[in-house]
Amino acid sequence: MIIRTQEDVTQAVLSEIARAPDPRFREIMSSLVRHLHAFVREVKLTEAEFQAAANYIVAIGQKSNETHNEAVLMAGALGVSTLVCLLNNGNTGATETTANLLGPFWRADSPRTPNGGSIVRSPTPGEPIFVNAWIKDLEGRPVAGAEVDVWHSSTEGYYENQDPVQADMNLRGKFTSDADGRIAFRSIKPAGYPIPVDGPVGDLLRAQGRANMRPAHLHFLIYKPGFKTHISQVYTDDDPDLETDSQFGVTRALIGHYVRHDNGPAPAPDVTGPWYSLDYTFRIEPGIAKWPRPPITGKARGERPAIERLKRREGGDAKDLQGGQRRIDDDAVRRRARRPDARLPAQSGVAGQRGQNRP
Ligand SMILES: [Fe+2]
Repeated sequence: MIIRTQEDVTQAVLSEIARAPDPRFREIMSSLVRHLHAFVREVKLTEAEFQAAANYIVAIGQKSNETHNEAVLMAGALGVSTLVCLLNNGNTGATETTANLLGPFWRADSPRTPNGGSIVRSPTPGEPIFVNAWIKDLEGRPVAGAEVDVWHSSTEGYYENQDPVQADMNLRGKFTSDADGRIAFRSIKPAGYPIPVDGPVGDLLRAQGRANMRPAHLHFLIYKPGFKTHISQVYTDDDPDLETDSQFGVTRALIGHYVRHDNGPAPAPDVTGPWYSLDYTFRIEPGIAKWPRPPITGKARGERPAIERLKRREGGDAKDLQGGQRRIDDDAVRRRARRPDARLPAQSGVAGQRGQNRP
């Protein structure tokens, strides 16, 4: 079609998309073009801004390699990863779920480890933690024989793929749930960490005055034929950054009850100081078991990278949805967020209150 006006452009593109034989592809692309064109019209995108946007997308690709996935990091920083997760789990968004975003650091082929074994594969500072995790179906029955991948960062703030100092596959392991649907392992208590900010995601966070911390968590990926693959993270209940996660991953169901033990014998005789325990139950839904595509495939070489920590800008002016200027009182926002009724809607599911998930 010959284009006469700016309004014609949208119709011209939609007419061509309509030729696609795959109906789902047609639906997604038509909607994308409608929203994209509406967005360009709404903000009256300038030519310079358009060129900057194109360069930004190119930079996301250029920043990605076998040990780093900037696109997944960006999806998390924009809240898209969590939105997709919550729309596709918990009875398609109707009920609370123990599912969470995958993140950019999962690697396939973690070392198979017997229940009770350790995933600390090279000297790693931190306090010991002993984890019991139960896999149950929606009726509360144990799911035996599930493959469960576990991974987390070191207390120095690095996943092993980012950190040449750590052994290959340090703080990663693959377990199989027993007849009670349980896996058990030993590691170090996870610590919060800064996400890398030397690429486009860092530019985005700086422009918004955001911090780049993620609250401490353990990652889980549960695979069992007959069930939808369950991807999760369990956050520590004592982390100061729970409400300002740079990847928007924290939901109430995923705040675990990490218990500190100052007295009493640890489950392993070599532990002499304080140690932690975590008991947590995942509820997995019936569905198709499918391994996700690994966002990374390798391990970094050379020097351990230095990751900058961005400080969250307090206060400031923000434009409201009506286009006027109003003062945003960050303290007031946080106070509201701490009210129980300002959190996620109350659910009768697996974790009624913060940090109360127990088997
Ligand atoms: Fe993580």
